[in-house]
Amino acid sequence: MHIEYFHASKYGNGAMVAEEFKKQMVAKDITVNVHHIREVSPKELPPADLYLFSSPGRFGKPIGHMRRALKKVRLPAGTKYAILTTEAEPQPDKKTGRMPTEEELAKRQRVIPIMNEILQGRGLVKVAEDKILVTGLGWKGPLEEGWQKKVEAFVVRIQAAAEAAAVRRALVGHPRAVAAAPSVSSPDCGRQPGSPSTGDETIPEGPASWLPHP
Ligand SMILES: Cc1cc2nc3c(=O)[nH]c(=O)nc-3n(C[C@H](O)[C@H](O)[C@H](O)COP(=O)(O)O)c2cc1C
Repeated sequence: MHIEYFHASKYGNGAMVAEEFKKQMVAKDITVNVHHIREVSPKELPPADLYLFSSPGRFGKPIGHMRRALKKVRLPAGTKYAILTTEAEPQPDKKTGRMPTEEELAKRQRVIPIMNEILQGRGLVKVAEDKILVTGLGWKGPLEEGWQKKVEAFVVRIQAAAEAAAVRRALVGHPRAVAAAPSVSSPDCGRQPGSPSTGDETIPEGPASWLPHP
């Protein structure tokens, strides 16, 4: 598998996450090329089996540079992508000390949903999504404790999704075997034991063209 990874890191946290992701994937013999999004022409992204987009949050949205780049992406419909953002750790309300609820956070923090809307509007298909939190009151980090483990879990999910898709591809043409095979669109696919399901591992029907050699 060959992954092209595009981030829009300003203070270095997203770049660190990208390097950790690459290190862990390389250990599994998977090629990852990391770029800052401003270094590439979004209309002419290099070929890959999977595209990974990583943006910092800005006022509830992906940073402008990433948003604009995503809108220019021209990739064939069905191309697989994953999202790994860096977002500010939720803070208690300054007056009440109350932490925002999940519902309140979802309203004001739309970094991942906006990235999904843009990419899926262009026919791309999501394989996985997650966020790594940036802690403290400033914007510069450090990253949340145990962030490398979170990257590891993300790597495992991507790999599991690729393997599941390869199984499905191997079974194409054998309808009875496909019917008997475990579903590859399970939201729990590749999830670490005990970790919450993100429900994002959407593996479409049909051949896994993003995994060239099963
Ligand atoms: C002006 C500004 C606005 C920000 N707004 C948000 C936000 O709405 N949501 C969020 O999660 N993080 C927000 N952040 C924090 C960034 O997500 C954080 O700085 C970034 O993830 C760090 O990544 P980087 O080191 O790769 O640039 C904001 C940061 C700045 C400077």
